[in-house]
Amino acid sequence: MAKLFDKFSNNYKTLLDESLHITGFDTDYFATAKIRALARLFPEFCQRPIRFLDFGCGNGSLQNPITKFFPQAAYVGTDLSNEMVQQARDLNNGSGVVFELASEQWRQGAYDVIFVANVFHHIPHTDHLKILKELRSLLTHRGKFILWEHNPWNPFTRKIVKDCIFDKDAVLISPLKLKKLCKMTGFSQMRIVFTTFFPKSLRFMVPLEPWLGWLPLGGQYILVGENPE
Ligand SMILES: C[S@@+](CC[C@H](N)C(=O)[O-])C[C@H]1O[C@@H](n2cnc3c(N)ncnc32)[C@H](O)[C@@H]1O
Repeated sequence: MAKLFDKFSNNYKTLLDESLHITGFDTDYFATAKIRALARLFPEFCQRPIRFLDFGCGNGSLQNPITKFFPQAAYVGTDLSNEMVQQARDLNNGSGVVFELASEQWRQGAYDVIFVANVFHHIPHTDHLKILKELRSLLTHRGKFILWEHNPWNPFTRKIVKDCIFDKDAVLISPLKLKKLCKMTGFSQMRIVFTTFFPKSLRFMVPLEPWLGWLPLGGQYILVGENPE
């Protein structure tokens, strides 16, 4: 896995833009949309000094939107691919730190928010529970856990993943299966919110998305949980 993303790190953004072509949007749009949705889900965190872990941060494309929507957040990123970590460090706007997955440094202290965007479908499913338990152990009391994933029930999503060169190893996860795993991990207050419904040609409908979270047809879904301890 590390090798897969190391290999594509130099032209990751270009390749991702190409595979998203069908939607009419680019990677920057989706990075901002993710963090805008997060701010909508947890407005109480927008103006608080929180510790924020971006697990599987890739090339760090979420850092700028996080700084914009959560200006007081202390950003920590980590990724399995050392090449992606290097890119995330290069992109770092000085407001955060990025560590290799093998480092102990990102495992220190507790986080108010752990965000995991489009990472779990690259991780062997047999490892999911172990990683979920570790991430839960790093949350503060009532800290929020957010998993953002491709929705396997959406045919356009399945096509994009099938055609994407660095998704060759991807195994999509049903929201119900992931919710069950999160329950086994001990998360509470869990809910699934479907998102990313409209292509750019229907952009005028995007403001409706917050009312469509119940509809299991979105291109992606957000699984939200809380650490009860
Ligand atoms: C599709 S990219 C998503 C990057 C970023 N989260 C985003 O939304 O732009 C998936 C990332 O997950 C990382 N990854 C894969 N397996 C991982 C693991 N076990 N632990 C941490 N990161 C992992 C890959 O190296 C890659 O950078």
